[in-house]
Amino acid sequence: MSNIGSYEDRTKNFDWKIAEKELEFKEGHTINIGWYCSDRICLKGKADRIALFYEGFGGIKKQFTFNDIRLASNTIGKFLQTIGIKSEDRVCLFMDRIPELYLSFLGVLKIGAIVQPLFSAFGDEALYVRLENAQTRAIITQKKHLPKVRKVLDRLPYLEFVIVVDHSKSRVLEPKVISFDLQESKPVEEFETYPTKAESPSVLHYTSGTTGQPKGVKHVHYSLISQYLTAKWVLDLQDNDIYWCTADPGWVTGTSYGIIGPWSLGITQCILDAGFSAQNWYKFIEDYKITMWYSAPTAIRSLMKAGEKIISNFNLSSLRHLASVGEPLNPEAVIWSQKVFGKPFHDTFWQTETGSIMITNFPGMKVKAGSMGKPFPGIKGVVLNPKTFDPITEPEQVGLIAFQPGWPAMMRAYWNNEEKYREKFVKGWYLTGDRATIDNEGYFWFVGRDDDVINTGGHLVSPFEVESALLEHPAVGESAVVAKPDEINMEVVKAFITLKPGFIPGPDLELEIMNFIRRKLSPIAMPQAIEYMEKLPKTRSGKIMRRVLHAREWGEDIGDISTLEND
Ligand code: WT7
Repeated sequence: MSNIGSYEDRTKNFDWKIAEKELEFKEGHTINIGWYCSDRICLKGKADRIALFYEGFGGIKKQFTFNDIRLASNTIGKFLQTIGIKSEDRVCLFMDRIPELYLSFLGVLKIGAIVQPLFSAFGDEALYVRLENAQTRAIITQKKHLPKVRKVLDRLPYLEFVIVVDHSKSRVLEPKVISFDLQESKPVEEFETYPTKAESPSVLHYTSGTTGQPKGVKHVHYSLISQYLTAKWVLDLQDNDIYWCTADPGWVTGTSYGIIGPWSLGITQCILDAGFSAQNWYKFIEDYKITMWYSAPTAIRSLMKAGEKIISNFNLSSLRHLASVGEPLNPEAVIWSQKVFGKPFHDTFWQTETGSIMITNFPGMKVKAGSMGKPFPGIKGVVLNPKTFDPITEPEQVGLIAFQPGWPAMMRAYWNNEEKYREKFVKGWYLTGDRATIDNEGYFWFVGRDDDVINTGGHLVSPFEVESALLEHPAVGESAVVAKPDEINMEVVKAFITLKPGFIPGPDLELEIMNFIRRKLSPIAMPQAIEYMEKLPKTRSGKIMRRVLHAREWGEDIGDISTLEND
């Protein structure tokens, strides 16, 4: 089926130099992801191949060849240089999945600046916290998102430029806000890509933890080595594939495998920016004859719910290989996909921090429905005893998933947070914060997270961030946020709150509070349920015990509550 060899052979003879060689990279030389994803593909004779098929709301269609994306990223890079953006400056991308998002990603990298993609559904507070932390110098956005940016502009002294891509004329619109229209700019044919090196910073993705504000995960240009090879071997991308990654580049899947992996391989990819429905998705696969599809369990469960009948209305025979990431892929979903598409979804496990796929159902390897698979060749993955942090050697024991650092796409730092970064390593292992078992054939089985972070539909939400935002609502006295079980999203956000004197509980207030969070943070972080309480469970020292509320939601044993306040 594929030309990538067997898992055993690849593991036995593995060396990252395989990728370095294929990419013609030599130690100490320049490596720039922007150049690799566009110029190099053109130099390899694929200038006229389609890099991007785009379809937006209302059926708008656009397409770009590799030469088009080379020119467009040159043009954007040049513009950024003209206004004074320098290497290592942070440039935020705050756009829907429009072509400019993908083209700017390469443009920012080509000038050696650091690209900071943020999900465009983020509200002003979520935006503020991340721009403030990164001391971002410029943000590229759309007219429709400008009101959110304006709201925080005064509080962000480092933010000098707000660049709007869909105003028709290049001009200054208001202080700090300028317009840049790609269509009206003269394409820049010759451009000198900034000579970034392996360890030069490239992408800064924000991810949520249990405590404190979101952390900026710093990646470097050398990550390309991992992203290229995993896209080739795990996603099994082959020369004539038409690839669809359903993730938004506001999240790491949407950049590592929604831009860098496929384009560094010169693969045609398709983007659908028109919301989710089973009808739309199947039609998209049929229209573009998608061959490789990388998606997420929540989407797959939604498709299962839409039923099998609808599938018979479409010709989906182009599909050759399917993969999934982001949250537990339940065995039923794998069995279902085998039945309706004739092939299983191959689960993959990784994180914003790891930058590339770590555990995988390698093509050709036996798929065990419900298992995440085995570590990618060259990756040493174990489960650790939670007390001693030594690897567990017997099978079927629950432990902490950990990896031996050293693969190219591993994060290099949490932005300005050395302490949190150091906490991720114990006895030479990188701790993922997840728990799993390993069976007697070396397959990993996901058990759960080892912290309070909520994974809703494949998106991590920090209870701390939601609790802090809740406290800004005038009616909220105290709050505790935990995951609540959900059929489709696996988990959704639930908030327990106490009210300040004078506020009356009720459905109106509930809705108001939900909307308050949606606007401030995002629709993802918005509590799907709010429960009023007289008081929240606390330890004697006054710390709110989320654990007790979590256990109640999931019908689990509450465990040791001996430190609970006893009055
Ligand atoms: C967390 C990382 C990088 C992909 C997008 C998410 C959970 C990820 C799986 C999987 C069960 C998974 C883990 C992980 N997760 N893949 N195949 N099965 N859980 O990146 O936002 O950094 O989230 O997502 O809990 O730690 P992220």
